Amino acid sequence: MSEPKPILSRTPTDSSADQFAADVQYYLALQPRQLPSRYFYDALGSALFDAICRLPWYRITRAETRLLAKHGREIFDAFGRGVDTVVELGCGSGQKLMTLVQAGRRAPARRLELRLIDVSASALASSAGALSALDDVHIVTYEASYEAGLAEARAARPGSGRTLALFLGSNIGNFDPPGADAFLRGIRAALARGDGFLIGADLVKPERALLLAYDDPLGVTAAFNLNLLVRINRELSGDFDVSAFTHRAVWNARASRVEMHLVSRGRQHVRVPAAQLEFDIEDGESIWTESSYKYDPDGLRLMLERAGFRTIHQWIDGDDTFALTLVAAA
Ligand code: AVJ
Repeated sequence: MSEPKPILSRTPTDSSADQFAADVQYYLALQPRQLPSRYFYDALGSALFDAICRLPWYRITRAETRLLAKHGREIFDAFGRGVDTVVELGCGSGQKLMTLVQAGRRAPARRLELRLIDVSASALASSAGALSALDDVHIVTYEASYEAGLAEARAARPGSGRTLALFLGSNIGNFDPPGADAFLRGIRAALARGDGFLIGADLVKPERALLLAYDDPLGVTAAFNLNLLVRINRELSGDFDVSAFTHRAVWNARASRVEMHLVSRGRQHVRVPAAQLEFDIEDGESIWTESSYKYDPDGLRLMLERAGFRTIHQWIDGDDTFALTLVAAA
């Protein structure tokens, strides 16, 4: 038996309920109407996302997990002084971090600090639970947006070794190109020279495959998207008629992104009192809920280099679906 592993959790300092209301008020009033995709992940949304990751048509998670298992050792060995801290932005269920640590860490293991940042309390609880089964780890969770979590994680750098930051699952795909540049620069600024950054990104592929990944025949992705309205109804006393919306996924080739929308069937009057919002939505009008940008391998490296990183290695899975890129803070 190893010693018990304490799990520290830090909760957000800003009131997340107020932030949700303010964002709903702002984004739903834009033209076209929008909602930020970070709000998908309440407890049900996180469970639906885990189900998406098991769908045969959504290959991101399996492709990435295979690459992490196969190259985990090379990833940990790329840093001379050794990695003593791993920070994961948007850890979700924690399964990928588990795979990476199991594949990559050398025995005898040095103590490893795992810092988990996620907006979903339920995802943090399950990932911290799963990861605490590892030997000699110290787990700290941050229920926070990426930016806030990163600032917290940076405020307390513990050991003498290297930090490895992880941004997996193609989470980068939710940022538009200027947002991605700014975000990567923020990560670079939070790291010390020589620290590592591992980013997983989904690659451009035929439209048919992309649409099946975001509009699956089982309707799980539709439920995931519609749940955002269920959440607004519950948490902000909204009165969306959820059954009068349809999930739609489109491939925007020019922008290299899959977009998800919620399309109103019929004209509806909607009230969201806790967000001080009331509006009419027309028949066929849609709410744009997510963008998932798709990349090419060279473009990814350029984007990272622009942000102040130097490429160590890029791994692409056998059928060119997904890329894992390891860089160091230059
Ligand atoms: C977790 C943001 C990477 O964009 O592929 C899955 C979320 N949306 N199916 C993605 C998602 C629809 C996912 N990310």
